[in-house]
Amino acid sequence: MIIAVDGPAASGKGTLAKRLAAHYGLFHLDTGRTYRAVAAAMCDAGHSLDDSAAAVETARTLDFSGLDAPRLASSAAGEGASRIAVMPALRAALVERQRAFARAASADGHGAVLDGRDIGTVVFPDATVKLFITASPAERARRRALELFGEEAGPNFEAILTDLRRRDERDEGRAASPLRPASDAYILDTTQMSADAAFFEATRLVDKALRN
Ligand code: CDP
Repeated sequence: MIIAVDGPAASGKGTLAKRLAAHYGLFHLDTGRTYRAVAAAMCDAGHSLDDSAAAVETARTLDFSGLDAPRLASSAAGEGASRIAVMPALRAALVERQRAFARAASADGHGAVLDGRDIGTVVFPDATVKLFITASPAERARRRALELFGEEAGPNFEAILTDLRRRDERDEGRAASPLRPASDAYILDTTQMSADAAFFEATRLVDKALRN
């Protein structure tokens, strides 16, 4: 069983994917973290973020056990990830690694929940169920401010909103695997929903897909 969870930045897809994985006994991979980790490793090594060959090599040797590193949560890591994510060769290398992760999870008798931008469209077009999680830019900026700074509104809100809009534009506008819902994805607008409500609605959709 593969559950694909896609959506724009700070839409709540990561929180939801983690809860779905725990609920259904599946492994979880936040594919955004794979892009963030490659960008961070490239900066550490002094590579330019436009260096496609270095990006591919970094992706091939990336250690997935380091994906939980707190520094990967920063806005700078997110910005770096979105910049390198436009490179088709890097995407191909990371998609291969992401599929291998899910294959190993399935071979283990479990399936996986993967969250990102292109899971339902490119990584697993045959996923058991596809969810596309979205929310208004202002609500997403509010959630990101809370996550990063513990504040609902304040000095960081406008900068976060600008950053999210720039990333949305880049993610939706790029030629390689642009952010968009798969034609058979369930679209969940969580602007007015609590995390619990989004989780219950998502399990209802997954249970329905499993019955079919
Ligand atoms: O957590 P947040 O939604 O801010 O970002 P993320 O999911 O960690 O992804 C960071 C960046 O990686 C995104 O802005 C995308 O450009 C890129 N990404 C992607 O292109 N494809 C994916 N499957 C996951 C992330």
